[in-house]
Amino acid sequence: MSRLPGRVVYDAETIERRVRGLAEEIACAYGADDRLLLLGVLKGSFVFLADLVRALEIPVQVDFLVVSSYGDAMVSSGEVRFEYLARAPLAGRSILLVEDIVDTGRTLDQVVPLLLERGARSVEICALLHKRRASSRYEPRFVGFEAPDDFLVGYGLDHAEDFRQLPYVASL
Ligand code: IMP
Ligand code: MG
Repeated sequence: MSRLPGRVVYDAETIERRVRGLAEEIACAYGADDRLLLLGVLKGSFVFLADLVRALEIPVQVDFLVVSSYGDAMVSSGEVRFEYLARAPLAGRSILLVEDIVDTGRTLDQVVPLLLERGARSVEICALLHKRRASSRYEPRFVGFEAPDDFLVGYGLDHAEDFRQLPYVASL
């Protein structure tokens, strides 16, 4: 790894406790009848999602989506391209989008309408971290931590693909 990350913001134990709390909130909000589909936004959500599903006491299915990272052109065109989107039909499904971090909310603003267009019954968002830097049309219903406006790495979050493996979240 190129550079050692600076200050630990959320240590492993703090994250573990909060993830268990989130799993309880989610289990209360949905029933077994909902056939909840967790859609992890890759790559950043992979660690969080793995811990979250193992803490969940309701049956869920898991799939992923990959969106092409938006350049300026993509923002101005208002288009988002799925590099991959769950193969299973989304029509009629209750979907919980799982994000590592919501920053400006731009990703959500583009992804949520596309999932609704495909006939999802409901789309809610679970984000481990929320920076609240700008208002998105879509407010995450489940938030792990209100994060500081620092650049954070670890527990799936990267800086130029480094540091995803850290078991804690640190500020660079
Ligand atoms: P948004 O569209 O601005 O909400 O950006 C969300 C995406 O930007 C996240 O899913 C991350 O991939 C990335 N991102 C935003 N802030 C950070 C950070 O502090 N560390 C690592 N990735 C970040
Ligand atoms: Mg992401």
